[in-house]
Amino acid sequence: MSTHIAADAGQVAPRILLPGDPLRAKWIAENFLEGAELYNDVRGMLGFTGTFRGERVSVQGTGMGQPSLSIYVNELISEYAVQQLVRVGSCGALTERLALRDVVIAQAAATDSSMNHHRFQGFQYPATADFTLLRQAAEAAEKAQVKHLVGSIFSSDSFYHDRSDLTDTLVDFGVLAVEMEAAELYTLAAKHNRAALAICTVSDQIVTGAETSAQEREQSFGAMVTIALDAMLS
Ligand code: ADE
Repeated sequence: MSTHIAADAGQVAPRILLPGDPLRAKWIAENFLEGAELYNDVRGMLGFTGTFRGERVSVQGTGMGQPSLSIYVNELISEYAVQQLVRVGSCGALTERLALRDVVIAQAAATDSSMNHHRFQGFQYPATADFTLLRQAAEAAEKAQVKHLVGSIFSSDSFYHDRSDLTDTLVDFGVLAVEMEAAELYTLAAKHNRAALAICTVSDQIVTGAETSAQEREQSFGAMVTIALDAMLS
């Protein structure tokens, strides 16, 4: 058992999906994994292990934002020897090239987070995806004919932004979407020599103001989970 995860060593699989929402973890376990068993409910941050195509796969909620994700990813890597970590989350589209329910496969993540600011003492760290997972996810999305873009995202500490000028600048430099976790995931994976990727479905279109319904979010979430599992098991 680690500080925030009540699993024995060996109960967590080397491959893990990381939704922010713990109830999404339950939904993924019930709908995509065979024989899934709960290994964690500390603080309601549910974690399950089952199998997919005969291989052991876990799914663990991380909560929202980089500090919360960091707690779970640190423990999953250090205490449970997890090797491949794929975030499956939602994002807000910053470009009209993305419609609601499209998938963004995050090649790199810019951030306004103080976590990397303190860690690198003002240097700008390039938080990037594992190339093999990235390529396999793009191939899986093409094969499944899911509308997707591969590119940079912005991992923000804020869901509600008081100023839009920063995001406007990021858009000018090709950043596709905003979410709140990928930069810390990529940074921790690099530190510990693990493979990480973030895949997000567009839940809100920040340019047009459009938002998905809860039912639409569930359907599009399924396509993304399939891409993530395909990418891990290719
Ligand atoms: N996740 C989904 N939509 C988001 C947004 N607009 N900002 C930050 N994270 C998000």
